[in-house]
Order: sequence, then C-alpha cells, then structure tokens
Amino acid sequence: MKIAVLKERRPGETRVAATPETVKKFVGLACDVVVESDAGDPSNISNAAFEEAGAHIAQSPSDAVKGADVILKVSRPMTGADGENEVSGLPENSILMSSLQALTEKDAVEALAQQKITAFAMELMPRITRAQSMDILSSQSNLAGYKAVIDAAATFGRAMPMMMTAAGTIAPARVLVFGAGVAGLQAIATAKRLGAVVLATDVRYAAKEQVESLGGKFIVVDEEAMRAAETEGGYAKEMSDEFKQKQAEAVRAEVVKADIVVTTALIPGRPAPKLVAADVVAAMKAGSIIVDLAVESGGNVEGSQLGETVTTDNGVTIIGHANMPARLARDSSALYARNLFNFLSPMIDKETGDLNIDWEDDVVTGTLVAKEGQVVHPRLTGEGG
Ligand code: NAI
Repeated sequence: MKIAVLKERRPGETRVAATPETVKKFVGLACDVVVESDAGDPSNISNAAFEEAGAHIAQSPSDAVKGADVILKVSRPMTGADGENEVSGLPENSILMSSLQALTEKDAVEALAQQKITAFAMELMPRITRAQSMDILSSQSNLAGYKAVIDAAATFGRAMPMMMTAAGTIAPARVLVFGAGVAGLQAIATAKRLGAVVLATDVRYAAKEQVESLGGKFIVVDEEAMRAAETEGGYAKEMSDEFKQKQAEAVRAEVVKADIVVTTALIPGRPAPKLVAADVVAAMKAGSIIVDLAVESGGNVEGSQLGETVTTDNGVTIIGHANMPARLARDSSALYARNLFNFLSPMIDKETGDLNIDWEDDVVTGTLVAKEGQVVHPRLTGEGG
C-alpha cells in the first residue's frame, strides 16, 4: 500500500501530517511512504530526516499522489474556490485523511465526493475512550490553549506571578478563561504554572470539578441549565438567550477585573458564541490582553479579528491569531501525525501491508464523509444529528 504525505499549501499552515517517527512505523507495517519535498520544512523536519525514516521524496504533489492508496494532510485541500485547486489533483478512488471542517465546508466535501475520493474528516472523530489517541481536536487544542497563554504573557506588560521583592510586592496577574474544554483546561494549567490567579467559566457543569482540580475558580451561572448543557458526545449545546444574558451579567465584573482573558468556547458546526461584548472590552483596564482562540469560528469577543492583533481605544490588546497550533509546528505536527497513525494503522493488514477497512467500526462511520462519489455522513446528508 502506498501512503502519500502532501506539503501544506494554505497560508500560515506550518504543520505536516507525518513525521519521521510515524513514517518509520508505517514502513514497519510494509507500507510504501512518499513525502512531497519540503513538506516538513516549516516544522523543521528535513527531507533527509524523512528519507532516513524510510520515505521516498517526491518533487511535486502530482508525483507524490501518483498511485497512492491513502493521502495524509493537515488542512482541508483547497478547491478552486480557494484559488489553487488541490482536490482536482487527488487520484480517483484514493483515500484522504485530513481535517476537513466538514460540517461548515459542505461544498468542499461535495468536491471531494465528485472527485471520487473516500474522505475521512478527522475532526469528526467520536469522543469514545478508544478514539482518544486519534482525536486531532484534542491534541491540537491542548497546544493552542498553552500557546494562547504564552502569547498573552509575552504581550502583557507586567509579570504573571506575585513577586515579593525588597522594592515592594507585585500582585499576580488575574487570568479569566472562557470555555474549560481541552484548550481552556490547558490554558488554566499554563496560567497557574506561571503564577497567575485563574478563574474560568463554561456552560457544562462537569467542567467545574476539572477547573477546580487545576487550582482555578469556577464561575457558576445557572447550575440547572449547566447540568443539561452537555451533549452525549461531551460537547456543549447552544444555550438559550436567557442563559446567555445571565452569563454575561455573571462574568462581566470578572472580565473587567482581569488582566488576561482567554476565550476558547466553541459549539461544533455552529458559529462561536459571542461572550465578551464591545462595551465590556471598553470597560477593561489599559494593558489588558485578550486572546480569542475561537476567532476562526467567528470569535467569542466582539472586535477580535482573524489573523490580527488589534489594540482598542482604551488600550486593550485583542489577539486573534489564525491557526494557533501552527505556531507550535513541531509539536503539533508530532501529535497530529500520531493521531493519523493511530487511526490508519489498525486498518493495515500486518502481514501484507494491504488496507482492510472495517466499514462498520465507530471511528470509521463517525469520520467518513465521502465514498464512491457520494457524500455519506449522516450529519451532512441530514439523516442524523
Ligand atoms: P470545544 O472545543 O467544542 O469547546 C470548548 C469549550 O467551550 C467546551 O468546554 C464547551 O463546553 C465550552 N463552551 C461552549 N459554549 C460556551 C459558552 N457559551 N460559554 C462558555 N463556554 C462554552 O470542546 P472540547 O474542548 O473539544 O471538549 C469538550 C469536552 O469533550 C470536554 O469535556 C472534554 O474533556 C471532552 N473530550 C472527550 C474526549 C474523549 O472522550 N475521547 C476527547 C476530547 C475531549
């Protein structure tokens, strides 16, 4: 079986879908691995390192995918609508494993189906224990949460921990985290390690214990509504306007007091909830920092801009980096590549190296979005929730 690893072409995408570690493991499973030249450059992985692990280097994307059974990518391949058309270069009947943003980019899934690609949207991995090692949202969000706090601390004109010095005492920074999922919990842990006082809020009541176990203070809005806010898959539900109003009132005073606010709140397949209004930002202290990790889904903060760092009239800096995991390319590539290996390797026959997919397996049915020219995922065809 031939596995192709493509160089990422979207602006700002520094990650790569395989590393020498995963290449070596695939080669050990009797697979032929071809990596497009310079695919690892932005992650500081050289062609030579891939070759040493057993990969062949292809000079062009078309050479890389020629005869490939499986193609590994990080970002959704571009269709003509994005400028370059990567989809048209993928061979018919090949299998694509990539992040696809399938729930919001339905035309792109349709384009893959038309190209007769069997496509797996890795972001749809079901949240079951067995799939934890394949979950790209977790592995990447964890790093994003960490980097959000590091970026905020680097921009913040003050220290994070309390310091008692001969010249006097410096108060610790107050950090407020919206959304205590994977990214939020890592943001809390990172801010605590730097010595900040940390508060957090979420719509899921289950997050309270997790926040407290990291030493953070959890802001409860409405316990009853919060106990009902979690889906079976562990995600948040869209909340009522009444809840949103209560939440805004409950957290307003804390946002205004905070030195650093990190927002991570997402609802799968929906625009991100707006949690920090412009008038609240306008009431914050000069020098405060906001990092909006939800900016790619529309943002949690009024005034955050995708890919921009803006400073408001009252001196609040709002950081809206696109693709936060790409700012830690080496580590995010390493974890992403392992997620793909953990997903693909059980489908490979250990003796022959041939593909043997169990189409009934939950991790397969949960992520398969296109097959035999058709869009097949129930959340895209309207047959399931
Ligand atoms: P996410 O990235 O979809 O959302 C981030 C956080 O924002 C979530 O905690 C969500 O509850 C919160 N949120 C949504 N709307 C909000 C609002 N209006 N105000 C405040 N907060 C809001 O979620 P993530 O981080 O991917 O994970 C959510 C849950 O799934 C966690 O409990 C996590 O532990 C669990 N999980 C389970 C896995 C497994 O069993 N395989 C793997 C990864 C996560």
